[in-house]
Amino acid sequence: MAETIRDPKVMRARILEARAAGKRVGFVPTMGALHPGHLRLVEKAVEESDVVAVSVFVNPCQFGPNEDYERYPRMFEADKTLLETKDVQWIFKPDVKDIYPHGDSINIALREVGDSLEGLIRPGHFSGVATVVLKLFNLVPAHRTYFGAKDWQQTRVVKQLIEDLHLSIELVVCPTVREADGLAMSSRNSYLSSDERRRAVGIVHALEKAKELWQANMPLADIESVMKKTMEDQGFSVDYAVIVDAESLKPTQCTGQKIALVAGHIGTTRLIDNCLLSHESEK
Ligand code: PAJ
Repeated sequence: MAETIRDPKVMRARILEARAAGKRVGFVPTMGALHPGHLRLVEKAVEESDVVAVSVFVNPCQFGPNEDYERYPRMFEADKTLLETKDVQWIFKPDVKDIYPHGDSINIALREVGDSLEGLIRPGHFSGVATVVLKLFNLVPAHRTYFGAKDWQQTRVVKQLIEDLHLSIELVVCPTVREADGLAMSSRNSYLSSDERRRAVGIVHALEKAKELWQANMPLADIESVMKKTMEDQGFSVDYAVIVDAESLKPTQCTGQKIALVAGHIGTTRLIDNCLLSHESEK
């Protein structure tokens, strides 16, 4: 039975005790409203660790003023029931005042990896993510942490946070878990009306086309236009549909792994997705 811990000091003490007893600790940070995508991260953490902590915390600092912080689904009892089906030792459910004892007086500033794409559309978002993730890593000093490839840019931000601040935690990135029609699972999918849900799959079709046209050596700018049009045809208002270097997220590098990244609104719901494109040599 998982223990729910609200007090950050107690949480940290539990992890330090486990580490002192020689246990490998896994950590999965989430904002709750758990779905099979989150649970896959938890399963992977359980497979690779002796003890696992999952945090459930809707982080106010990563939402912009006109975003969905208030509306974000909160369903802790259901989350707890789902986590009870996995071998999780601790559910960390802190209050905002305990994570931000002095409000938002400290904020991690990011350049480069946090500036483009999501960072441009959602100013301050990745600073909010990096700040809360650093706080959580301090309170849950695990050996390994598990993040989903669905939020690809977030994984690059966390990787850089770990490297640049010399944190001793290892990042494990897990593949995106999808619905039967390919739509990436997301807590925000619950906002979609049935008509929007049907059209939302346009985001996946855009990525499928990107893969196909990439294999056929179509110029990148033309592939990007096709991706955008595919989403627009289903009623998306597109924020970006690009192919960039998967590590730097810059468009310019010609060698190395590429990734197609897409984001847009359908109705009032914002969706993002991505897919890695095979290396040049594998074409
Ligand atoms: P949240 O959106 O709840 O996601 C928690 C973790 O689950 C993230 O690493 C995310 O990439 C992963 N995830 C979400 N949907 C997934 C899917 N369909 N397949 C695989 N993994 C998926 O991301 C956040 O919360 C927050 O920004 C957080 C890191 C907790 C900081 O507040």
